[in-house]
Parts: sequence; C-alpha cells; structure tokens
Amino acid sequence: MAVERHRCLCVVVLLIHTVTGAGEGPSPLPLPSPSPSLKSYDNELTVTFPPLDDLYSNTPEKHFGTENNTLVTSQTGSTALLPCVIRNIGDGIVSWIRRKDYHLLTVGLTTYSSDQRFQAIHLQHSEDWTLKVRFVQKRDAGIYECQVSSHPPTSIFLRLEVVEARAQISGPTEKYLKPGSTLRLQCSVVQTTEAPAFVFWYHNSRMINYDAERGINVTTNPAERLSDLLIPAASVSHAGNYTCVPNNAVPASIYVHIFNGENPAAMQSSSPSFTHLNLNGLLLPALLSFHITR
Ligand SMILES: *[C@@H]1O[C@H](CO)[C@@H](O)[C@H](O)[C@H]1NC(C)=O
Ligand SMILES: *[C@@H]1O[C@H](CO)[C@@H](O)[C@H](O)[C@H]1NC(C)=O
Ligand SMILES: *[C@@H]1O[C@H](CO)[C@@H](O)[C@H](O)[C@H]1NC(C)=O
Repeated sequence: MAVERHRCLCVVVLLIHTVTGAGEGPSPLPLPSPSPSLKSYDNELTVTFPPLDDLYSNTPEKHFGTENNTLVTSQTGSTALLPCVIRNIGDGIVSWIRRKDYHLLTVGLTTYSSDQRFQAIHLQHSEDWTLKVRFVQKRDAGIYECQVSSHPPTSIFLRLEVVEARAQISGPTEKYLKPGSTLRLQCSVVQTTEAPAFVFWYHNSRMINYDAERGINVTTNPAERLSDLLIPAASVSHAGNYTCVPNNAVPASIYVHIFNGENPAAMQSSSPSFTHLNLNGLLLPALLSFHITR
C-alpha cells in the first residue's frame, strides 16, 4: 500500500517535472507556473489514450450474432422474445428502443420504461441480450432497436408482429338437430404461436368439460390446437349456445337447435333467443317475476 502510494507520487512528480520543464533546480516540488493545468491536461491526454486505442485494436471485432431485420411473431397475451446476440461486446452496453415513439425501454439490465412488461434478459457470460415483452398486446407491434454503445453506436432492428389467436368452431354458426342424434362440435384455435394450455366449453353459461354424467364428452389435444365436444344422443336439454374458450385466444360460439322433425315451422319462425327461452326455461322465471313485481 505504502509502496503503491509512493510510486503514484513519483509518477505525478515526474509528470509535473516534465511539463514545467523543471528539473535543473534543487527544489523537489516546483511552484506551479501560470498555465500548468492546461499543459498537464495535454500531457495527461497523450499519456492516457494510446493504450486504450491499442486495447481496442487488439480485441476481436464486435458484431451482431442476430440477423438484422429479424421478424418475431407472437400472439396476444403471450410472451414475446426479441433476441439480440452480440459477439465480443467488450464493455459495450445494450439498450432496447421502441422505434415507433423512440421510447427507451431498457439499458443494460435496467428497465427504463414505466411499462414493466419490458425486460432485458441476459445470463452471465452469455452473448444474448433478449428483450422480453410479457402479455403482448396488439399495440406492441412494430420495430424494436437493439443498440450497442460504441464509437459510433451500432444497432440492429427487429420487427414484432402480433397476431390474435382465436377459436373457430367448424361448420355454420347455427346447427339444427333431431333429438337422439349425435352432436359433434370441433373447435380449432387458429393464428396461434403457442398451444393453448386448456380449452373450456360452455353450454350457455355452464362450463361442461366435466359433465360426462350429462352425456357430454370433451376431448382436447392442445398440441394440435383442437378440442372436440361430443354428445352421442342429444336431447332437448342440450339445445342452446355452445362456446369454445381457449385460455389464450378469442372464444367462438355456435347455437344448437334440437327440434322434432315433424314440426319444422317452429324451427323457421323461432329466433335463437326465442328458442333459447322455450327450450331452457331459463328466462321464463325471470319474466314471470317481472310481471309479479309490476
Ligand atoms: C441493420 O439495418 C439497418 C437498416 O435496416 C441499418 O441502418 C443498420 O446499420 C443495420 N445494422 C447492422 C449492424 O448492419
Ligand atoms: C370421448 O370421446 C373419445 C373420442 O372422441 C373417446 O375415445 C372416449 O372414449 C370418449 N369418452 C367417453 C367417456 O365416452
Ligand atoms: C353465446 O354465448 C357467447 C358467450 O357468452 C355470447 O357472446 C354470444 O352472443 C352467445 N350467442 C347467442 C346466439 O346467444
């Protein structure tokens, strides 16, 4: 410690010594001349910078491992990962900028945006500075810039495309069946980038995935983004509104009429809501109580 301080002092003394041109005099600490600070600053510049330049020319060149103008597609509600691999980053700092409004999202591992859905992901010793966007929304679509501080800064640009996954029940939006016939509904999740974790089926407002005792069989294949609803022998009580609700996609509905073939007139004249009222009797008590209270 003492040796170190001694050496430092020596260097400083030597510097001042050289700058002021002193040295002939016997005084070990010469008095400052009128403009020594400027001169010593000059001196300091020439002393400090050449080694740094050497350092830069000796290190392998910094470059991006992620292709410029990469497209990333994510579905609404999911987590988007925008990669940015930088080789030989040195002491460079990575910033992510949303180009739409030049909003600074992250610098290093710090999120600057007030929107905490944005986060830079970087594992120690890795070369990747991925931007993670949680709960992707449609408005997140656009260009993102991964910028590395250097002289001058260099950037690559990534485009985030946001798709909205939705459920789709095959066939027409209304189905007409005779009592006792088989009701089969197939729901597929389209425009997805990730499989649904689960798919719920609703009959009107009731969740029916586990209603086996009511003759309902639901089978879901998340990997294929498919869910099937099977009622081998449909009865009048099975009529109504069926909705397929994947956890990560917009739901889809279909209306099922169960009617006796001998009475097609009822089918033609009835609107879905009218049938709904007749067959379920759900709205009837509500209407009655309405009359009574008046
Ligand atoms: C990436 O492409 C943009 C133009 O789309 C360009 O300005 C930029 O310099 C490119 N970055 C690199 C590292 O080549
Ligand atoms: C439900 O349907 C699948 C085929 O869609 C069938 O393999 C399975 O046995 C059925 N389950 C019941 C309880 O009927
Ligand atoms: C069926 O239910 C869904 C979800 O509750 C609703 O959005 C839709 O309007 C209903 N359709 C009919 C015809 O009642």
